[in-house]
Amino acid sequence: MIKLINKKINDIDASEIILVKDLKSKYIKDVKILKENGFSAKNEEICVLIESSRVYVGIEDFEDYDSIRVGLSLAFNKLKLNKNIKIASYVSKCSYWFIRAVVEGVILGGYSFDKYKSEKNKINVKSFQISTENYLDEKLNVDDAKEAINEASIIANSTNFTRDIVNEIPNNIYPKSLAKIAKDLSKSNNLACNILKEEDLKEENMNAFLAVGRASVNPSRLIHLSYKGKNAKKNIVLIGKGLTYDSGGLSLKPADYMVTMKSDKSGACAVLGIIKAVSELKMDVNLDVFIGAAENMIGGNAYKPDDVLIAKNKTTIEVRNTDAEGRLVLADTLCYAQEKIKKIDYILDYATLTGACVVAVGPYTSGLMGYNDDLKSEFRTQATKSGELTAPLEFNKYLEKKIKSKIADISNTGEDRYAGAQTAGIFLSHFLTKENKEKWMHIDIAGPAYRESEWGYNPAGGSGAGVRMTLAWISSLINK
Ligand code: BES
Ligand code: ZN
Ligand code: ZN
Repeated sequence: MIKLINKKINDIDASEIILVKDLKSKYIKDVKILKENGFSAKNEEICVLIESSRVYVGIEDFEDYDSIRVGLSLAFNKLKLNKNIKIASYVSKCSYWFIRAVVEGVILGGYSFDKYKSEKNKINVKSFQISTENYLDEKLNVDDAKEAINEASIIANSTNFTRDIVNEIPNNIYPKSLAKIAKDLSKSNNLACNILKEEDLKEENMNAFLAVGRASVNPSRLIHLSYKGKNAKKNIVLIGKGLTYDSGGLSLKPADYMVTMKSDKSGACAVLGIIKAVSELKMDVNLDVFIGAAENMIGGNAYKPDDVLIAKNKTTIEVRNTDAEGRLVLADTLCYAQEKIKKIDYILDYATLTGACVVAVGPYTSGLMGYNDDLKSEFRTQATKSGELTAPLEFNKYLEKKIKSKIADISNTGEDRYAGAQTAGIFLSHFLTKENKEKWMHIDIAGPAYRESEWGYNPAGGSGAGVRMTLAWISSLINK
């Protein structure tokens, strides 16, 4: 649907989106009428001129790619009942990033989850044409532009793939059906796939993981997908929290906190989106993703506060709250992944792990934790470029003591409510081998993974948090 077209903008018959940061530029044809309509080109301001079929959107700047994504999302949704849309390109500094932002804005902003709505969100757009003519009369690099369209399409569509699974309802997504989605992806994208059932988890001594899923009628699964790059420059392992439902277990969540907990599988969905894109972009890495999929429910055989669980690496864990279940599933999944993959350059985990992280950094930002400051900082730079927000959260020797237990090696909760995101991260660090500790980063996506109201180019529901930032980071690693 989105293509580059070697024609002057006026020679294309389509509705036009025009990005503006002020009303001074010569390419703005409608200054008078825009002013009459009170349009002053402020960021996210929009003016639709129905007769001329032109939509003006205010942006912060042509190098502020996230404001371009938001602008495109706004404009596209105004024009979505039209058949053809066109936009001019912008050159000056970098046509590649500009075009990427345009395409991502359209695909991410045009997304909606309307599967269960009788009235569907109508989009009539058949073609979205990016003219090689640009706002600055500079020469566009056509190869760069084509590459940008292709890469942005793969990245944004993979993000929407992640959103779709996050948004899917818990009557349809449970560990077995999530494993089926992974299996189908492995077939279509030529990945290796291995699914472990509960009897396999027992064999592997993954008793912390097993305890979490024990009361559910839907048995747990561990999912492993593997992609081998042609000229692989790095070996990357990603782990996703796949709680297809988190009721809290016996430490039951209050009703108001339980709604939206279908989204507790967002880490798993993110790593699926990432491996989908990495394989479609044919990136030069080896990538292994592991998902711990379970349902945290109540029942006569539910695991209990006061239980002590023995994890795969023999660490004993006192359960003080069955709602701190994600870290138990991740603990064993981390151990398993490190046993399976011997050569690891980086090991990252993605989890909607704590409400505390949302309190700490706000609902739109992911918390980055770990012992490698360079990794956190480099990852953060790339995340920002991709349009995702992150904030580092620090561990320290006093926080490390907060998960001490009187009866076991560690407790699954901190001794008080302070720094809950970090104490969860510190808990996970107990399941890393010594040599992998500095290769590891924990990403708490509890805030941005799922919001009940729209923000920027994210509609209400799953956002695909984790996908774009990780792809930007991997791409920077292999293009160094
Ligand atoms: N899945 C939740 C965390 C969460 C909360 C994700 C809100 C998204 C939005 C997690 O399993 C949980 O319940 N964590 C507890 C930990 C506590 C019991 C130590 C929490 O954050 O309250
Ligand atoms: Zn929980
Ligand atoms: Zn949870």
